[in-house]
Amino acid sequence: MNAITPNATALPAPVGLLAELTHRCPLRCPYCSNPLELDRRSGELDTATWQRVLTEAAGLGVLHVHLSGGEPTARNDIVEITQTCAKLGLYSNLITSGVGGALAKLDALYDVGLDHVQLSVQGVDAANAEKIGGLKNAQPQKFAFAERVTQLGLPLTLNSVIHRGNIHEVEGFIDLAVKLGAKRLEVAHTQYYGWAYVNRAALMPNKAEVDRSIRIVEAARERLKGQLVIDLVVPDYYAKYPKACAGGWGRKLMNVTPQGKVLPCHAAETIPNLEFWYVSDHSLGDIWANSPAFTAYRGTDWMKEPCRSCDRREKDWGGCRCQALALAGDAAATDPACSLSPLHAKVRDLAVEEAAETPPDYVYRTIGSNVQPNVRTPLNEEAPL
Ligand code: SF4
Ligand code: FES
Repeated sequence: MNAITPNATALPAPVGLLAELTHRCPLRCPYCSNPLELDRRSGELDTATWQRVLTEAAGLGVLHVHLSGGEPTARNDIVEITQTCAKLGLYSNLITSGVGGALAKLDALYDVGLDHVQLSVQGVDAANAEKIGGLKNAQPQKFAFAERVTQLGLPLTLNSVIHRGNIHEVEGFIDLAVKLGAKRLEVAHTQYYGWAYVNRAALMPNKAEVDRSIRIVEAARERLKGQLVIDLVVPDYYAKYPKACAGGWGRKLMNVTPQGKVLPCHAAETIPNLEFWYVSDHSLGDIWANSPAFTAYRGTDWMKEPCRSCDRREKDWGGCRCQALALAGDAAATDPACSLSPLHAKVRDLAVEEAAETPPDYVYRTIGSNVQPNVRTPLNEEAPL
């Protein structure tokens, strides 16, 4: 294995590492951004390999490690992995559902130096939340977990993924965050990748509901200044400009899958013909600098019009490559979430149509299923759902 470090002047270091420790999860959220083909436990990296990856990440200049999944506390070695982060001076963020064995491991995680907890909440009303997450009795477990997080003095962020099944609860999410003592709340409208893409018609809210949710967040930001920070992720399909997905391709983030495949973003595997490298064969520095997947859409040389001559091209880096592939059939196209894309109006029309239809049942996230996305795009508008 080559231990290549990128040239600091030519290539900035990644800031964050998303460590997808496992795809196992007690919840089955239909908005999950994990891939449809989930990695099985038998193929997961072992403790020593994760520790080596974290050591390489620290050497590369990574500051934050997001311990994620699936449910990261499903790993027996989550405490050892967290301790390694602390020893290396990496800021560790546990991204958790707070159910299953999470509470039982929390004190040990705190003792070895866990820095931050991000807890998902699927809804405010327990029955609604548990329907979305696909797990009975999840809500009381989450509340008990949140209570222990704040008792320990750990900073708590609540993450609420918003869609048509819970958009009426945005005010309630804000009240809940205050009640649970969270310092931050993410009101994150669903991004349609992985399972969320399959479930798009079931999840798409209408524009009036989205606008109302934004007004509620803006008012609460004023009211709760100094008490609660609220991050708002607006839904792409109703946006004017796309977001800089993953901070720009190959610019800030490395995503390591449970089996050790290294991706520039969590949905990159949906793009055909990209060559991904594994931590078993290459050092993280080599992958960051030279992996074909990382270099494919880094910078602006790959861009086509209208991105190529757009003055926002180094702000949003052309939006999301995975969404461009899914909606425009070309990962190098302008993200159709952008109002300057020739497909934007059609994408918005699709969103309006889906939001007006009776929602189909959720397709719940599960390991070992053979789900095929059957989703309308601007290229197959006539396809039956
Ligand atoms: Fe961003 Fe491309 Fe749209 Fe310009 S045309 S705003 S660079 S996505
Ligand atoms: Fe892959 Fe946006 S999710 S670039």
